[in-house]
Amino acid sequence: MRRVLLALALLATGPGLAAAEDPSVLPDAPNRDEIFYLCTACHGTAVITRSRLTRQQWDDLMTWMTEVHGMAPLEGRERQEVVDYLARHFGPAQGPAARARNPFLN
Ligand code: HEC
Repeated sequence: MRRVLLALALLATGPGLAAAEDPSVLPDAPNRDEIFYLCTACHGTAVITRSRLTRQQWDDLMTWMTEVHGMAPLEGRERQEVVDYLARHFGPAQGPAARARNPFLN
């Protein structure tokens, strides 16, 4: 019985939970919901939230996502808005990395 319960618990916390992500896992700001659905069509938000990139790097990443992974091309104003959002919330100056410097690099 314990084994069955353990298996059920693992199932419940495994892919099921990842699939239950919703836009609130991303910082609340204009265009958040659109960006959430656009990006999570292919992968979870973890690949986004663990990244710290400059605006230029996010922009290049959009090109890479289109050319290599088949994302529909993002252009014009929509691309601006997506890249602005990403650079603002997941830029190099945000997050623990910005507060605590890497002791191995100091
Ligand atoms: C058509 C599918 C698709 C869409 C849409 C998509 N991606 Fe990706 N993305 C991928 C694939 C495939 C990878 C590489 C495999 C992985 O890491 O899961 C990837 C990887 C990434 C990575 C990790 C790059 C690294 O450092 O290795 C980031 C960051 C990322 N995507 C951001 C985004 C953002 C932001 C959006 C929405 C604007 C988005 N992706 C939309 C397919 C997609």
